[in-house]
Amino acid sequence: MAPRALVAGNWKMNGVKSSVSELKSLIDLLDNEAAPNCDVLLCPPATLIGSFVEVANGKAVNIGAQDCHVNVSGAHTGDISAAMIRDIEATHIIVGHSERRADHFETSELVRNKAEAVHKQGLAAIVCVGETEAQRKAGDTIKVVVEDQLLKSLPENALPENTIVAYEPVWAIGTGLTPTIEDVAEVHKSIRSALVERFGNEVGNGFAILYGGSVKPGNAKELMSADNVNGALVGGASLKAVDFNGIIDAYR
Ligand code: PGA
Repeated sequence: MAPRALVAGNWKMNGVKSSVSELKSLIDLLDNEAAPNCDVLLCPPATLIGSFVEVANGKAVNIGAQDCHVNVSGAHTGDISAAMIRDIEATHIIVGHSERRADHFETSELVRNKAEAVHKQGLAAIVCVGETEAQRKAGDTIKVVVEDQLLKSLPENALPENTIVAYEPVWAIGTGLTPTIEDVAEVHKSIRSALVERFGNEVGNGFAILYGGSVKPGNAKELMSADNVNGALVGGASLKAVDFNGIIDAYR
């Protein structure tokens, strides 16, 4: 089955209690405009997940988390488990974002363990991959993205129902720079081929592959039109409901 598109917002370390007004505005926009042909997800910081889930209850936006620990519980000061995230009724967890790979030295093996922890709770993992500028310049993009990251970060039994891949070139995140449509399509094609090779035709073609990195209302439609792009993972432009809705417009 063709993947269902997803437009996901990652608020990163942004947002306080009063930011729920943006979620409420987004819900209003979704209620009042044509239903998009995609799912919508917002991943606020952990402090806001619970209240966002309550506000979004029964609405056309799901709430997710940005990370989790591999264990269910235990002596891990400051960490949050997938079980805790399920307990507050979030539906998705981002794992392996490049900022966590860089800031917290997360390896693809750890990312795979996190994705497995997400799956054990019956939630969906958004597994992020992406090359740095130096890796792209060295011509290593496909090797890094597919071999070093994607194949090592995906659990053996990943399924389209519980796993979404997000390709986010590190140099495009928060910079306003984006790859050309041809470059996006090339990487997404390589990701798709690797998924088909690993999981077979039917399952491999079922995974949604999101593009992330400086997606904005002005470039979303074009980026989303590239082959094998099944949605977006949006940072900065997901903080304001109007901008995020402008990206969702690519699916209206
Ligand atoms: P950006 O971030 O949209 O602000 O570039 C994307 C991301 O890191 O998910």
